[in-house]
Amino acid sequence: MVKVTVDGIPVEVAAGSSALQACEAAGKEIPRFCYHERLSVAGNCRMCLVEVAGGRKPVASCGFPIGEGMQIFTDTEVVRRARRAVMEFLLINHPLDCPICDQGGECDLQDQAFGYGADHSRYRENKRAVTDKYLGPLVKTVMTRCIQCTRCIRFSTEIAGVPELGGISRGENLEITNYVEKALTSELSGNLIDICPVGALTSQPYAFTARSWELKRTDSIDVCDAVGTNIVMHARGAAVLRIVPRINDEVNEEWLSDKGRFVVDGFRRRRLDRPWVRVDGKLQPASWQDAFSTIAMRLKNVPGERIGAIAGDMCDAESMMALKDLMETLGSSNIDCRQDGAKYDTSRRDFYIFNSGIAGIEDADALLIVGTIPRQEAPVLNARIRKRFLAAGRGGFPIAMIGAPNADPTYAATVLGAGPDTLAELADGKLPFADVLKNAKKPMIIVGHGALTRPDGQAIAKACWDLAAQVGAIAPDWHGFNVLHTAASRVAGLDLGLVPGARGRDVAGMLDGGVDVLWLLGADEFATDRIGPETFVIYQGHHGDAGAARADVILPGTLYAEKPGTYTNTEGRVQEAFRAIMPPGDAREDWRILRAFSEVVGRKLPYDTIEALRARMKRACPVFGAAWARHATSDTTPPQAGSVAMSGDPFHPVIADYYLTHAVCRASPTMETCSGIYVHPANQAAE
Ligand code: SF4
Ligand code: SF4
Ligand code: FES
Repeated sequence: MVKVTVDGIPVEVAAGSSALQACEAAGKEIPRFCYHERLSVAGNCRMCLVEVAGGRKPVASCGFPIGEGMQIFTDTEVVRRARRAVMEFLLINHPLDCPICDQGGECDLQDQAFGYGADHSRYRENKRAVTDKYLGPLVKTVMTRCIQCTRCIRFSTEIAGVPELGGISRGENLEITNYVEKALTSELSGNLIDICPVGALTSQPYAFTARSWELKRTDSIDVCDAVGTNIVMHARGAAVLRIVPRINDEVNEEWLSDKGRFVVDGFRRRRLDRPWVRVDGKLQPASWQDAFSTIAMRLKNVPGERIGAIAGDMCDAESMMALKDLMETLGSSNIDCRQDGAKYDTSRRDFYIFNSGIAGIEDADALLIVGTIPRQEAPVLNARIRKRFLAAGRGGFPIAMIGAPNADPTYAATVLGAGPDTLAELADGKLPFADVLKNAKKPMIIVGHGALTRPDGQAIAKACWDLAAQVGAIAPDWHGFNVLHTAASRVAGLDLGLVPGARGRDVAGMLDGGVDVLWLLGADEFATDRIGPETFVIYQGHHGDAGAARADVILPGTLYAEKPGTYTNTEGRVQEAFRAIMPPGDAREDWRILRAFSEVVGRKLPYDTIEALRARMKRACPVFGAAWARHATSDTTPPQAGSVAMSGDPFHPVIADYYLTHAVCRASPTMETCSGIYVHPANQAAE
């Protein structure tokens, strides 16, 4: 630690800190444009000038290393004059079109000009103009507003791992550009909007929609993947207008995937806002009473074992608990939250969660990725792998992958093979990477759903576990066996026991004529055409997608933005989301629908409030009442291998189109455009 004083206040900061960090430790606010906590230091805007005793001129504090006994001054006349000069310099060419600028009201330049600038300018020359650049359908550019802080360049190079932005020319002619006119190819590109301190990079879909002071902010959780990214929904009236990330260093730091951010325009399209009942083969609008009595009539005389339920990938834990309880009261143990047919041994929680924790990736020193492409399945988690990969001073981070030979993970990874055979070779020590894992102090294995959704998924999970145990990855202080989920609801579903009970049927069993009545809770991601023609289907959900198209009765449910809900992410972290907007029309909170229906069939569920339901969840699984802690164990007893032996077939990616993985993004014009540009460019060209 190093002792310095800031404006006479003594502070102690870690050796190697910058003067800016020392000022922050002393509670002093230092204006800045180019400096960002999570990016390398560029030191090119000069807005952070401070005075250091003994120095001949002010120094840029973000890049100035502290020394023992250093005296820093942040509010002297010299500093004030220097900041005014920098601000005047920055504004020479700035258009100052705040009234028509999307950044107005949340612009660092506006704020800092107000706080540190002068009230006049001495420059009368014409301002320079810079041609806007095409960065794709998500990020809009007005490059005349750019102050060349280079944050966007550093973000795309360092965090996203897609070095597509750079600077060309010098001095007054310096321009930020993507060199060739082409959409950015990152699943994290929306973060450029947040990182740009001015209105040069703004949101294309949100352009000219609202001003920041008109918006109501609600904390929520992203359910487009299983990372559990903390988000804030910005709503005006009945509509969520944009989604931005919320800082949580343990989960997403301050990043958000493009799908989680831009899916918002799918919230109000293709909505189910009233009940529907199929009459003579056609869906007809109905009242809640009609819909409930139609289901109740159909359920009459159907034995419990001929009733089944499937929970979808975006369900909150409350609605899944209510669904499970309803099925139990109806005498059914046919329930499943694994639309993709994934296989897990659910007898222990660490068999199916991401035990190292997302932040734990930074502690690991070797990584094996099996049957998953984290860049597509969990872009924010992938950024954490890249962060560890780039981390200086932590030693190397060798990474190997099995499967996905053509994926560009954004970090150097050795592709060891295509399928489970390679796992066996590693276990036998036939590949050099086996020694890398063995010699690592904290090795990690991430197994994904490209492996787990196969018939031999459970055997592969066991092989990964065995390898983890063999290389010392399962120890009292470190748990290196990790399942990377893709469905936001999956871990909560498994925690609450939404898997078939004794003699119960799984998804495949229910589809293959195993049930007469099938309740789909937001379940659209399976082959609905496999449902037998005689099966009576109830679809409870928010969007008119595959499940609703096959339904005999539709019950309009709510989106994650429209209800308070609990979500458990891939690392088993229980997080709460709040209601940002009211649901449209007759749509209702899902657990309330299930609770109301239970009364109609005379099997009333024992909770009338969400608090009572949450108490029930805690009784069913104590993790719902406990703070998250990274899992560690010395118990290396492996999971069950299942009945299907490992085959040699190669792993296949589980995501065919990153932008269209669920019903909400399929309703989003922005996601559809992205799909056309990034995933199906040939179709676009043909059009
Ligand atoms: Fe105004 Fe900021 Fe927009 Fe510049 S970037 S025009 S200062 S709101
Ligand atoms: Fe900085 Fe924004 Fe310009 Fe990039 S576009 S250099 S982030 S001002
Ligand atoms: Fe220090 Fe830009 S913030 S030079």
